Amino acid sequence: VTVATDIDRFYAESADAYDELWAPVMARLSAPLFDALPLEGARRVLDVGAGTGMAAAPISRRAPGAEIIGVDRLGSMLCRVPPMMRPAIMDATALGLRPGTFDVAFSSFVLFFVADPIAALGEMRRVVVPGGAIGFTSWGDEPDYPALSVWIEELADAGAPRAPALRHDLLNSVEKVDVALVASDLRPRRVWARNVEIQTDPSDFLRRMLAFGGRRRLAALSSEARTRCLRRVQQRICELEPDAFCDRSEVIYAIAQRPVG
Ligand SMILES: C[S@@+](CC[C@H](N)C(=O)[O-])C[C@H]1O[C@@H](n2cnc3c(N)ncnc32)[C@H](O)[C@@H]1O
Repeated sequence: VTVATDIDRFYAESADAYDELWAPVMARLSAPLFDALPLEGARRVLDVGAGTGMAAAPISRRAPGAEIIGVDRLGSMLCRVPPMMRPAIMDATALGLRPGTFDVAFSSFVLFFVADPIAALGEMRRVVVPGGAIGFTSWGDEPDYPALSVWIEELADAGAPRAPALRHDLLNSVEKVDVALVASDLRPRRVWARNVEIQTDPSDFLRRMLAFGGRRRLAALSSEARTRCLRRVQQRICELEPDAFCDRSEVIYAIAQRPVG
């Protein structure tokens, strides 16, 4: 089983839940990237790993009249993109797009899934015009928070198999991103990190955990063990304070430029 196949299965099973639970969060966390990209006056913009198209509305607001193309490996995600984005099924490391035809190419919360992120950045570099802009977001430090610790402990106590690691750690710090940009023959313009807050409550937290990865881990247990585990999680998280449901992960933002000439 390749890493790409695991990611495809993960998102194919969860496209509806992703659109409802994560796309709005991704739009909020991606806003600083969109604000920093030179979108004003852009005529063609590319979203790599567009998912369900969360970027379509914010990009069309910042680049009115621009043609927005959204590519992703999965049709099950792309079938939800809004009409202002043109979807196309493509892999980030092999874009079927002509060179030098976009003013801006960006990718939000995708490149840590791509086994060869330098190849994906190379493709983004190839399809933008000389001097064109490239931007992406990535996860940095992801500290545990109390509700997540309960979930992890109870699944481990119940004997649920570990989830496969879907992400690599090649882009999870400002320093690594700088190195990756230079290795991709891009000029880093601004790379920065910001701690964000993703607040959930007991029911929202459980829905997220079950929709993304947890369902498969629990499915490996007997139905008694599963019921017992979920009951324990529910009991324990209901006793937690609201702050125990706040995920304060770090997001890395990167803006770079394709060199002219
Ligand atoms: C966390 S979602 C992000 C979606 C969207 N950018 C957003 O922020 O809502 C990750 C997306 O990356 C896509 N993806 C993963 N690996 C990919 C690859 N090698 N090429 C293209 N898309 C890929 C997945 O199918 C999924 O839609």
